[in-house]
Amino acid sequence: MTDILEKLHQDHIHAAKLLDLYDKQLQVLKGGGDPNYIIMRDIMKYMRSYPDVVHHPLEEIIFEKMEDKDKLLSKNIEKLCKQHREIDDIGEKLYDKLSTIAAGIVTSLEDFKMGSEKYLELMRSHMDLEEGEVFPRIRKLFTEVDWEDVDLELARQHDPMFGAGIEEQYEYLYDCLLSEGNESGGSADS
Ligand SMILES: [Fe+2]
Ligand SMILES: [Fe+2]
Repeated sequence: MTDILEKLHQDHIHAAKLLDLYDKQLQVLKGGGDPNYIIMRDIMKYMRSYPDVVHHPLEEIIFEKMEDKDKLLSKNIEKLCKQHREIDDIGEKLYDKLSTIAAGIVTSLEDFKMGSEKYLELMRSHMDLEEGEVFPRIRKLFTEVDWEDVDLELARQHDPMFGAGIEEQYEYLYDCLLSEGNESGGSADS
């Protein structure tokens, strides 16, 4: 049942590509240019609709089981769960701001730039900690029964962009990713 970990890993690859695309637009803004705010807004919309509400809660189900199996991981697990809340909070503020900007409302961008940088740094270091230290221990210590419990949760999930089909609201963003040469083409590749 470690295919659930593989799914979480694929989610990280998808998120990393979107963060790179977001970062590219942020660098345009920081260089005094005019970024594509629609791309940035759609990325944050996706982050708020899949990672924040599906990927992170699924991880927390796994992490909770893991705390009983490996006490040494407790600190990192506590940190990761706290970061999930932080990612959710910053993401919400960024999405609200991007919706305002994309609607053509002029607004100060200094906080937005700082918030965006913080978000990118937090998401990247968060995924590094999961991939580098926590997932390998889960892979080692989880039993078939543990995975069956988690699998029940996974069956209820739906990814609106990299899942079975792309929702219309993400078609533009997906096309942008393809044109960046970041083709993903589905849920089990890369
Ligand atoms: Fe996480
Ligand atoms: Fe994750």
